[in-house]
Amino acid sequence: MRNSSRSAVDPFIVMDVMEAARRAEEAGRRIIHMEVGQPGTGAPKGAVEALAKSLETDALGYTVALGLPALRQRIARLYGEWYGVDLNPERVVITPGSSGGFLLAFTALFDSGDRVGIGAPGYPSYRQILRALGLVPVDLPTAPENRLQPVPADFAGLDLAGLMVASPANPTGTMLDHAAMGALIEAAQAQGASFISDEIYHGIEYEAKAVTALELTDECYVINSFSKYFSMTGWRVGWMVVPEDQVRVVERIAQNMFICAPHASQVAALAALDCDAELQANLDVYKANRKLMLERLPQAGFTRIAPPDGAFYVYADVSELTDDSRAFAAEILEQAGVAVTPGLDFDPVRGAGTLRFSYARATADIEEGLARLEAFMKARG
Ligand SMILES: Cc1ncc(COP(=O)(O)O)c(C=O)c1O
Repeated sequence: MRNSSRSAVDPFIVMDVMEAARRAEEAGRRIIHMEVGQPGTGAPKGAVEALAKSLETDALGYTVALGLPALRQRIARLYGEWYGVDLNPERVVITPGSSGGFLLAFTALFDSGDRVGIGAPGYPSYRQILRALGLVPVDLPTAPENRLQPVPADFAGLDLAGLMVASPANPTGTMLDHAAMGALIEAAQAQGASFISDEIYHGIEYEAKAVTALELTDECYVINSFSKYFSMTGWRVGWMVVPEDQVRVVERIAQNMFICAPHASQVAALAALDCDAELQANLDVYKANRKLMLERLPQAGFTRIAPPDGAFYVYADVSELTDDSRAFAAEILEQAGVAVTPGLDFDPVRGAGTLRFSYARATADIEEGLARLEAFMKARG
């Protein structure tokens, strides 16, 4: 059968690395996973218990498309707790992960052929989802002096219908402060571009609190998820905050595209919002891991790294070591038994000279991974 031209999206290269790691494990090797962008921990205990209880009494059928009212209200309260923002719960839409949020946002905001700016390096699926929807992703190559975040000059005169930012970002972990976020919002709005802020790594921040776009404007879409801070990747539940006059538009699309986010996951997510002690303990692990990474990656020979403000990644410039990050990642997997992600996933051009290391796993694994990387680099000379 014929395929649409829209369907010709690129694979997620990290998935290929994961498959190679799985094969090595099947053959009996112990692989240290620094490729996967997900917590090693499961959902918080309180979330699992709340779901277990509701399984006894609730049929868990469809919810309304915008999600359980109690969950929308609790998320609105989170904005008061985290940022001092007073948010109308009616503006909160529960989504099947932030990935579901992207589909809803891009469909609600853009027409076929519209151009949407995304930072490079950046999360690969933005580009692929935009393409699959018949939209045009416009890579904005970011500069090291801007900590690989876009600035207004990067998209001046580009005739964008939308601008998508992420703070903390994947793969760099860098954040936009108030002034930087404000400048982007202003420049996007002046160009008539809708502003979308991916805030999925909020809660996982080290030096300063992450800024939500909602502190600066109500005229934006904010996308978030229970996958990262709340440690619930496989549950497929996230949320989006949209302007009041956009709620009905998004609701109609959500009704037709998904009906609703998984009901069971919404029940668990509601309880997860009150599991701060356990989630802060996860954060303590990331903090310890980050410290180890920043000390020992340079010792191993990965010297061109910047301290991440948030998330659980270190993005390393390895262009002095290779011009083929995919082959280099394969070599590291083969010889050191450490799975890492080639930068090409995040930046189709400069990513040939970068790698992303994830430190979301247990500290013992990170220590072992770093020891192996040191030995590998020493042997490589
Ligand atoms: C920046 C960013 N946005 C979105 C996602 C997708 O997350 P979700 O599990 O909420 O669909 C990821 C996953 O790694 C990510 O890194």
